[in-house]
Amino acid sequence: MAIVETTDLTKVYVQDVIGVEYGRIKIRLKGRRVAALQELNLTVNEGEIFGLLGPNGAGKTTAIKIFMGLIFPTEGNARIMGKPLGDRRVKAQIGFLPENPYFYDYLKGWEFLDYYGQLYGMARKTRRAKIDEILEMVGLTHAANLPLRGYSKGMLQRIGLGQALLNDPRIVFLDEPQSGLDPFGRKEMRDIILNLKEEGKTVFFSSHILSDAEMICDRVGILYKGKLINVGYLRDLLSAQIKEYEIVASNLQEEMLKDLEGKCERVIVRKQDVMVCVRQKADAEKIVRTILASPAQLVSYIPRQETLEEYFIRQIEGGGQ
Ligand SMILES: Nc1ncnc2c1ncn2[C@@H]1O[C@H](COP(=O)(O)OP(=O)(O)OP(=O)(O)O)[C@@H](O)[C@H]1O
Ligand SMILES: [Mg+2]
Repeated sequence: MAIVETTDLTKVYVQDVIGVEYGRIKIRLKGRRVAALQELNLTVNEGEIFGLLGPNGAGKTTAIKIFMGLIFPTEGNARIMGKPLGDRRVKAQIGFLPENPYFYDYLKGWEFLDYYGQLYGMARKTRRAKIDEILEMVGLTHAANLPLRGYSKGMLQRIGLGQALLNDPRIVFLDEPQSGLDPFGRKEMRDIILNLKEEGKTVFFSSHILSDAEMICDRVGILYKGKLINVGYLRDLLSAQIKEYEIVASNLQEEMLKDLEGKCERVIVRKQDVMVCVRQKADAEKIVRTILASPAQLVSYIPRQETLEEYFIRQIEGGGQ
């Protein structure tokens, strides 16, 4: 079932506005129009981890801000849980971690969560239990009594995530949740996201850290200059594309090695092992047959899949302008 659905969602910002004022009359003379989102048609299914991926300025935050009702689309519309944007019952079931969250930093960790719990209208007793659970989940139990101004960037990101989960949301929108986190923190964030999925929640997140997305996303959408240039299951997007074939052999004869050096993309020699890479399957199979027919030993033959990173670059080179 679709939990988020957008139809031709478009956002145009006007930048560098120059205008004149005559008393109460304001006239806009000049302004650069930036189409931050162009006719976005996207469906996110309930229970999946969806990654909206794209480089800086692609329009990821713009899309999320529209979903949150913080800004309004210029054209088109979106529905969350089947309801138009702004529906209060839907909002109550949404969690949101903004990009670069800025929190009131004189509050202690638990006070901050307690404040948000009150905004959600949670009873005192429920709040207490939930806050302990959340602090544990985001690994901040030890910092519950520390004011947020003493938190590191990674800790702020985690308390922000805690805030997004306080109302036990059906869907969470996380704008660059991995930003500012070290590799260890990124792994923790991935584990939390995977746990949320196990609990049946939908996670919509944006990122340009492709390796993290690759590890956890069910589906991804690739956004570039406001346009969705591809969307799909990661396994389908990537498996279709075998990038190259990697062959490793031991004790190759000198003659054969020379021959391969002329034919292959890359030849790497390490002690008695030689690794060669070719793009065409037929070429790879031919090399394997030759090795098998010679006194050398075939160590491995691996069709190497494209990584998300490589896929992303290829999409942008082909789909952007
Ligand atoms: N409030 C605004 N006023 C004018 N232009 C804006 C505004 N917010 C964003 N933009 C422009 O819209 C485009 C998309 O910005 P957006 O922040 O959505 O991108 P993003 O994909 O989230 O990028 P990043 O990875 O850097 O966070 C950019 O060209 C940006 O300059
Ligand atoms: Mg952004």
